[in-house]
Amino acid sequence: MTVSGSRIALVTGANKGIGRAIAHRLGELGLCVYLGARDEGRGREAEHEMRAEGLDVRFICLDVTDESCVSLAAKRIEDEAGHLDALVNNAGVGAPAAPPSRTPVAEVRRTYETNVFGVISVTNAMLPLLRRSRSARIVNVSSVLGSITHAASQDDPTGVFPKGVFPTLLDYNTSKAALNAITVTYANELREERILVNAASPGFVATDINGHQGHLTPEQGARIPVWLATLGDDGPTAAFLGEDGSPTGQQLSW
Ligand SMILES: NC(=O)c1ccc[n+]([C@@H]2O[C@H](COP(=O)([O-])OP(=O)(O)OC[C@H]3O[C@@H](n4cnc5c(N)ncnc54)[C@H](OP(=O)(O)O)[C@@H]3O)[C@@H](O)[C@H]2O)c1
Repeated sequence: MTVSGSRIALVTGANKGIGRAIAHRLGELGLCVYLGARDEGRGREAEHEMRAEGLDVRFICLDVTDESCVSLAAKRIEDEAGHLDALVNNAGVGAPAAPPSRTPVAEVRRTYETNVFGVISVTNAMLPLLRRSRSARIVNVSSVLGSITHAASQDDPTGVFPKGVFPTLLDYNTSKAALNAITVTYANELREERILVNAASPGFVATDINGHQGHLTPEQGARIPVWLATLGDDGPTAAFLGEDGSPTGQQLSW
């Protein structure tokens, strides 16, 4: 099914949670959205629901840890759309909470495969398509838990954790810190090409990743990623913005 005339987006890990809400909102805004999911059944179900609302949302099989799957996804988008305007690297995992001293290195590796290496793999595969857009945007869905500054001061600017208490999730926090560094590194490479690359912290959202303990809805968590995916040409690059209820979010420290 070829695409003509629309802006094209790809959202990874979009079958549920925040990614699903990002895909839905981008569809509502009139974009043609490739809904990335590693499981066909879950992906097709999300696609079906959104298409029933009249949105141009297309399931695309995408396990971000599988390079051949990532290449096939890029080839399909190239064949159908010819380019990509917005890439939202949303897919993410976390290991069960344990202190760093009791976290098996295998758990850290597993989390990095998705949260770090998966982002690099998808970004590099999609960059040739993004370079064909006149206003390409890359959004990395990060977390305030990836902020080394806030971890060091044990001061959570979002107010979820009291002062002096900052979660010590070795795999998750450090994977998001790496993702933040990756965001700035790509932003600097792509600055001259006017490809804007930013990180978003969606806030504490009730989803499977945290056993639905968050206080925000996936739709609220999707707000800043969607804003960054649809930025005007005068928008920021190399920014780290977090949900705080304001239109453009709060600037977080790296
Ligand atoms: N919820 C929060 O409070 C919060 C706060 C800060 C940041 N975040 C970030 O927000 C993003 C979305 O998380 P969420 O809260 O919406 O969690 P979620 O409901 O657990 O969704 C995670 C999504 O990532 C997908 N995924 C995991 N590994 C994948 C892989 N290898 N390839 C492709 N997709 C994969 C999952 O697919 P399956 O269904 O197949 O597992 C699912 O669609 C993550 O990057 C997370 O770190 C969340």
